[in-house]
Amino acid sequence: MERDIARVLITPERIRERVRELGARIAADLDALGEDAAEHVTIIPVMTGAIVFVSDLIRELPVKLRIEIIGVSSYPGKSMESKGVALKSELPRELAGRHLIVIDDILDSGQTLDVLTTLIRERGPASLRTCVLLRKPGKAKVDVRVDYVGFDIPDEFVVGYGLDYDGLYRNYPAIGVLKESAI
Ligand code: IMP
Ligand code: MG
Repeated sequence: MERDIARVLITPERIRERVRELGARIAADLDALGEDAAEHVTIIPVMTGAIVFVSDLIRELPVKLRIEIIGVSSYPGKSMESKGVALKSELPRELAGRHLIVIDDILDSGQTLDVLTTLIRERGPASLRTCVLLRKPGKAKVDVRVDYVGFDIPDEFVVGYGLDYDGLYRNYPAIGVLKESAI
């Protein structure tokens, strides 16, 4: 695995530090919603890319919360650009009246979060926020609002910390760029 990585963009230490900061901000914002809200927080990780990020992030949130996953596929197989968004599972049922935070690994074209937030909003949540670990600035084709962003990165295809190429490298602990020979 390691030998397929050309360059590390973000080290595990920087990720850890940033996830801690994001957690503190999100926790403060949830706190500001008042005591009532505390019973109704649901985190919605977009599978599978958000799996590592969300597992670290939720442990930085010292509040009661539920987790409801959503499965989405936009980069089937070896493709490196979005082929449109396909929902791989039904939306969770109990979203009405909840304070929701949709968590994804990366905002690229913005289609994934755009489609998801539009569908989720129809369910009548009390509030809806979005959080991504990474964002490629200037790439978004649609105007989608993201409330919490870990890092802005250059427009390169990255793997690690949940992000994959052809299903691989999700367990690589840093964010890195693949060698040409691995693609
Ligand atoms: P969007 O719909 O174009 O914003 O793309 C978001 C989804 O595409 C993310 O959930 C990722 O799964 C995937 N993606 C986008 N850029 C990358 C990348 O550089 N590496 C791996 N996956 C990516
Ligand atoms: Mg994804």
